[in-house]
Amino acid sequence: MIRRTGLILIVASLGPLAQSADLDANVAESRAAVSAFGPRLKTALQSAIQSGGPVNAIQVCNVQAPEIADSVSEDKGLHIGRTSLKLRNPGNKPDDWERQVLEDFNARLATGEDPAKMEFYEVVSSGSGQMFRYMKAIPTAQVCLACHGVDIDPAVASELDTLYPSDLARGYSVGDIRGAFTVEQNL
Ligand code: HEC
Repeated sequence: MIRRTGLILIVASLGPLAQSADLDANVAESRAAVSAFGPRLKTALQSAIQSGGPVNAIQVCNVQAPEIADSVSEDKGLHIGRTSLKLRNPGNKPDDWERQVLEDFNARLATGEDPAKMEFYEVVSSGSGQMFRYMKAIPTAQVCLACHGVDIDPAVASELDTLYPSDLARGYSVGDIRGAFTVEQNL
């Protein structure tokens, strides 16, 4: 009886330790994917705005963002994308888990937490087994306002209307959470 209890205790104490060591690697890989995606997109956006103005830069988000996401996903052997509670592209729609995390991010913002450092991860059960899921908040910066702000230039607004007839991703201010990067890894 005593020996059995001892054995269970050892198993119970090794389990979470082993799992948290594994998750450190998943967290690091997710952060690396976000670092490969986010700055590349922002640089492409800034240079397109500089060379041809915001109307010209729309194609960066429209065409290049999904391409960069696909190439980072392939490089890193995971899946990365972007999502939001107020969508521009309905294809970026959050699932229930992502929606809950985005709502929690807004609640954390309301308590004064810095959105630039906000992240959340969890192991969830999926149809095919266990999956590691990670999200990182994307704060709204000055450069974003040309296409997500309150006063959008009419030429930009009209191009957005054409491409995204159900666009909800306007009216943001600097410091708002525009959305999040979302990463999935099969365990
Ligand atoms: C030149 C216009 C433009 C600028 C500037 C811009 N975006 Fe966007 N954004 C878009 C377009 C267009 C889409 C839709 C992309 C797609 O079809 O996947 C988009 C989509 C997004 C999405 C995906 C969720 C959704 O609503 O579909 C996020 C998150 C996002 N933008 C964040 C930002 C942030 C943060 C900045 C500033 C660093 C920024 N954007 C600057 C045009 C822009």
